[in-house]
Amino acid sequence: MWRDYLGPDARIIGVDVDPNCRAMTEHGFEIWIGDQADPAFWDGFKAAVPSVDVVLDDGGHTMRQQLVTFDALFPIVSNGGLYIVEDTHTSYFPGHGGGPPGHPGTWMARVKDLIDQMHAWYHAPIDRADQVMAATMIPSITVFDSLVAIEKRRRSPPLTLARGQGGHRKNPPAMDYIAMRRALRVPDGGV
Ligand SMILES: C[S@@+](CC[C@H](N)C(=O)[O-])C[C@H]1O[C@@H](n2cnc3c(N)ncnc32)[C@H](O)[C@@H]1O
Repeated sequence: MWRDYLGPDARIIGVDVDPNCRAMTEHGFEIWIGDQADPAFWDGFKAAVPSVDVVLDDGGHTMRQQLVTFDALFPIVSNGGLYIVEDTHTSYFPGHGGGPPGHPGTWMARVKDLIDQMHAWYHAPIDRADQVMAATMIPSITVFDSLVAIEKRRRSPPLTLARGQGGHRKNPPAMDYIAMRRALRVPDGGV
């Protein structure tokens, strides 16, 4: 299906813990056998595959699997790429490590945190690595019922231009864009 959809030139890499999936190499896919919940597995994967355009996580759907995979692979998604997680309702299933809304350590809890961090310009001094990543590299997070799609594309910090007097209320201290732009080494005057 993916070959048909993406075309003959697409490099399609499958990852599964089940060794029987090696049979799929017959169809022109690259297959890696390993545990998506194991960071060491991803270290080996990334040594061979340093960049990907799209990730579709349709694996075991446990919280640890989804979170370890995101932490390993989102950094190697290319600029302009997409990270998709399927069956995200498992965040609410105790059997997968989930729980009711507010349960800590779920994939959906991470998504809610990412939504806050992509808005870090407006509420935080951006001094944590995850805030820098989300604020500068995530322009959109689309949440469907049971599926989340996270766009990765380099963003510039917001630039405020105020004209006249009293027409623009600054919200200190987080809105000090100029300090943020300098901290993130965005050239003055650029957008
Ligand atoms: C819902 S199926 C989806 C399979 C495939 N994405 C598809 O659409 O046909 C889940 C797959 O995740 C694999 N899986 C389960 N736990 C895993 C793990 N820890 N690491 C990697 N793959 C795992 C299973 O072997 C199974 O093939």
